[in-house]
Amino acid sequence: MQNDSLRALYIDELRDLYNAETQLVKALPKMAKAASNDQLREAFEDHLRQTSEHVSRLEQIFDQLDEKPSGKKCLGMEGLVKEGSETMGEDYAEAVMDSAIIGAAQRVEHYEMAGYGTVRALAELLGENDHISLLEQTLEEEKQADEKLTELAQEIAPQALEGNESDESMPASKVGRSTSKTKTKKVA
Ligand SMILES: [Fe+2]
Repeated sequence: MQNDSLRALYIDELRDLYNAETQLVKALPKMAKAASNDQLREAFEDHLRQTSEHVSRLEQIFDQLDEKPSGKKCLGMEGLVKEGSETMGEDYAEAVMDSAIIGAAQRVEHYEMAGYGTVRALAELLGENDHISLLEQTLEEEKQADEKLTELAQEIAPQALEGNESDESMPASKVGRSTSKTKTKKVA
């Protein structure tokens, strides 16, 4: 009986993650488009490929469970994606915008890491050994994506500061390292 309710929770959590990942598959191209820094854009493109893989891994798990992946809306991810869209609508200079998008993306990664940590623990309790390695691979990739974003933030955020110090009328060629344009970027 107890095992059944834990199993129900496991499936519910997996459905929540499945929905979260599919929302992210739609959101990541917009974040890549809004990014000015080339490395940041590539990081989003790489993570989009990984995210499609995360969706496939969850589908594999649902196949093994003989359950459907659909049926749940992840409101947490919906909120994070909405906040990210709001951020991308702001009138920020490029390095500031990139820093803001990184902040939004890291919230997403931490949210997913929490979700995968939970399902991995549940898989262990339920003896779903085939699922553990699949979930761990994804969890590891979310962690790596988060670390990559931290590295990029450390590189990009100081550029925003440089942009701030310079005179407004000065060409902001020092603001962005890879793209040296004065324009601000507004997507969303
Ligand atoms: Fe993911």
